[in-house]
Amino acid sequence: MNSLRKLLIKKVIVYLRVLRIYYYDMRRFYRYSNVQQDFTNEDAFKGRLTILYHVIEKGLTMPETRMGFGQPVVEDLLGLLQRYEDLGYNKTALEFKHSIGVLNEYFNFHEESNFELPEVLVIKHKAFVNRIGLAEGTRQLKYTREEFFKFKNSSFETFSQSRYSSRNYIDKEISLDVIENCIKLALKSPTSCNRQLNRIYVVRGTEMKKKVLQLQYGNRGFGHLANTILVLSANISYFQGVNDRNESYINTGMFAMSLLNAFHHYEIGACPLNWSVDHKRDEAMRALLGVPDNERIGLVVSCGYVPELFEIASSPRLEVKDVAKIFN
Ligand SMILES: Cc1cc2nc3c(=O)[nH]c(=O)nc-3n(C[C@H](O)[C@H](O)[C@H](O)COP(=O)(O)O)c2cc1C
Repeated sequence: MNSLRKLLIKKVIVYLRVLRIYYYDMRRFYRYSNVQQDFTNEDAFKGRLTILYHVIEKGLTMPETRMGFGQPVVEDLLGLLQRYEDLGYNKTALEFKHSIGVLNEYFNFHEESNFELPEVLVIKHKAFVNRIGLAEGTRQLKYTREEFFKFKNSSFETFSQSRYSSRNYIDKEISLDVIENCIKLALKSPTSCNRQLNRIYVVRGTEMKKKVLQLQYGNRGFGHLANTILVLSANISYFQGVNDRNESYINTGMFAMSLLNAFHHYEIGACPLNWSVDHKRDEAMRALLGVPDNERIGLVVSCGYVPELFEIASSPRLEVKDVAKIFN
C-alpha cells in the first residue's frame, strides 16, 4: 500500500511538472504570438504581411495561375499595409517593401494580361502606391528544369542557395528506390542523443494522397500534382524528461531539411507543407495513416518531377545583421 501511494505521488508530481512547463510555454505563446489577431506589435504585422504577400506570390507562380485570384487577400494586405504605415512602423523593413512589390507585380500581371480587376481595388492600390512612392513590382523566379538543378552537385554554399520550394510537378513516377535514397540521406540528420525517433509515411496511391491533402491547409492549386506525399512524425516514447517536450518538432525539422536537400540533389521538386492543424485534423490524419498515439506529426512534404519551364515564389530573406546577435 505504501509503495502504491509512493507511485501515485510520483505520478502526480511528474504530471504537475509537465503542466508547469507547458504553462510556461503557453503563457509566452498566448502573450506574444498574434494568436488573438490583435496586432499588438510590429513583428505581428510583419508576420501577417509575409503570410499575405506569400499567398499572392504563390498564386502568381502556380502551375495554372487563375486570373483575378486572391482578391480578398489583396484587399486585406492593402488594409494591413495602411495600418502599418499609420502606426509609424519601419517602412524600410523587408516585409513592408516586399509586400508592396508583390502587390505591384499582382496588378501589373493582371494589366499585362488584360484582365480587369474591380475598379475599387485598383484605385485603392494606386492611391496607396502614390502615397508611399514604391511603384516597382517584384518578379517571381522563372526556371528551366536544367537551370533549377544545375547546382545539384555543387559546393554546399552554391547548392544551398539554389534550393527552393517547388510547387509545380509533372505526371512522372518517382521510383520508390529514389524516395528511399532520399529518406536514407535524411536519416543522416542529427537527432538528440542519436535517438532514432524520426518516422515517415510515404503516400503514393491517388486516393490516399487526395485524403492526406484534404487534411492539410496550404496545397491548393498544386498538391494534386504531386507524385508522392510524405508525412513526417517523431516517436515521442524516446524522450525521457519533461524538458524534452519540444524535441520531437526540432528533430522532425532537421530531418525535413535534409530530406528537402536530398530531393533537390535527386532533381526532384519538393515543398514542405505545414501541419499546423487542430486536434480533429490531427486525429483524422492519424486514423488515415495508422499513426500510433506515441508519435507526433510535424510536417507534410509534397514532391514530384518538375516541368521543363516553371515558376518559383521569390521568398526573400532577412540579412545576417537582422537576425544575429554576436557576443565577442
Ligand atoms: C514549417 C513549414 C511549413 C510550410 N507550409 C507550407 C504550406 O502549407 N504550403 C506551401 O505552399 N508552402 C509551405 N511552406 C514552404 C514555405 O512557404 C517556403 O519554404 C518559404 O517561402 C521559403 O521559400 P523556399 O523554400 O523556396 O526557400 C512551408 C515551409 C515550412 C518550413
